[in-house]
Formats: sequence, C-alpha cells, structure tokens
Amino acid sequence: MSASPYLAPGFYDRALADGRHRDIVGGRWSETAAAQMALLLDEGLRPEDRLLDIGCGCLRLGHRAAAYLAPGHYWGTDASLALMRRGHEAELSDETRARLPPGNLVEDADFGFPGLPDSIDIALAFAVFTHLPPDALPRALAQVRARFPRLRRMLLTVFLAPQGHAGPHRQPDGVVTHPDRPPWHRPAAQVEAEARAAGFTPDWRPRRLPRSQRLLALTPV
Ligand SMILES: C[S@@+](CC[C@H](N)C(=O)[O-])C[C@H]1O[C@@H](n2cnc3c(N)ncnc32)[C@H](O)[C@@H]1O
Repeated sequence: MSASPYLAPGFYDRALADGRHRDIVGGRWSETAAAQMALLLDEGLRPEDRLLDIGCGCLRLGHRAAAYLAPGHYWGTDASLALMRRGHEAELSDETRARLPPGNLVEDADFGFPGLPDSIDIALAFAVFTHLPPDALPRALAQVRARFPRLRRMLLTVFLAPQGHAGPHRQPDGVVTHPDRPPWHRPAAQVEAEARAAGFTPDWRPRRLPRSQRLLALTPV
C-alpha cells in the first residue's frame, strides 16, 4: 500500500469523474464541518482573521468558514487543485462563492504555501497528517513557522498510539490505525517534540472529534 491514499495514480481523477468529491475527504460532511467550525471558534477565530486551511479538500470546512470570515480571508491549499475547484463550484452558495476568490485556493502538496499572504492568523490541518507518513509533519511545521510571522495558532489533528506500541491500534471509536501505513498513528511525545523543534508550544485539547482524532494546538514561541 502507498504511504498515502492520495498518492495512488488516478485517485482524484476517478473519484471526481464519478462525482465523489465528498468521499475523497471522508464524507460526514455537515458533522465534520460543524466540528471544525466549533473548534476554531473556541480557539478564538474572529471574522477579521485570515485563516489558512491546509489540505482543505473540497471545502468541507471552507463552505462554513468562508461564509463566516471577511471576504477574501479564507485561504486553502491542497494537493489537488481540481478537488478544491470542485468544492468551489459545487459546495458554496452564491453568496459564499462571492466571498472566496478562486485564487485563494492554491495547489500545494509540499507545504511551500506559494502565493499565500504572510498575514495568516490561524492555520488548521484537519485530517491531513492522519493520512501522510510521519516525515510530513516536521517539514510542514517548520515551513508554517517560517512563512507566517503573524500566526497566533496552528491546529492539527493526528491519531495517537501509546509509546512503543508496535502494530495496529484500535482507536476509541473503532478506527484501526497503523505505525507504517495509512491511517497513520504517532506517539504523542514524538509529535510534541517535532512541534517544539519547529518553534511551537504544543497543547493537546481534550475535544472529541470524528473518528477519535486528537487535536493539537500549537502556539508560536
Ligand atoms: C481526509 S481529507 C481532509 C480534507 C479537509 N481538511 C477536511 O477536513 O475536509 C485529506 C486532504 O488532504 C489532502 N492532501 C493529501 N496529501 C496532501 C499533501 N501532501 N499536501 C496537501 N494536501 C494533501 C487531500 O487531497 C485531502 O483533501
């Protein structure tokens, strides 16, 4: 199996051709969008903030966040531009679409954030590192830290497994995660160490999230 389901050849093309863009991001559309909005509001998101949604997919959060934020203040990146564009066409009301310029959706599979403004206040990567091999996280965090000097908070989700746990791990809601293939799990201490090395103070939030993902809040040091 590949290191990420998203790297399988033809994965996006096939699913988009079949009209399955919501499935690409895991379905549970309204529930997951609501969970993401609620956590962002609890973390202090305000309408005037500039939000970066890393691995934003077809705008499961974006359809809610772009309606809440000032026009032009929602930014999204994803490995697939076609997926983001499908969300822009199919998942936004006319009013919300007018608040989200297509140029705010930027194809980026390497966390380089090309063309994004420096003035991002809050960044979120929801259900992204759960699907990527462990080396993606330290690379992404270092780039977020260097690129966005005004950042107040970075939020991300991962699956956790106990330190030293060798094989598959059953999460509280039944999802089985793995140390060596997707969905990936990590020991908490390792994730914390990577966050500190990138220049953040990590803090696990006790929040319940879909599929028993754990939420980590990072504050720039
Ligand atoms: C499970 S979906 C979550 C999407 C979105 N965050 C949400 O919660 O609706 C994972 C997303 O990560 C994107 N992705 C996968 N690999 C990526 C990479 N290397 N860089 C950026 N995005 C990536 C996928 O295209 C997909 O949209």
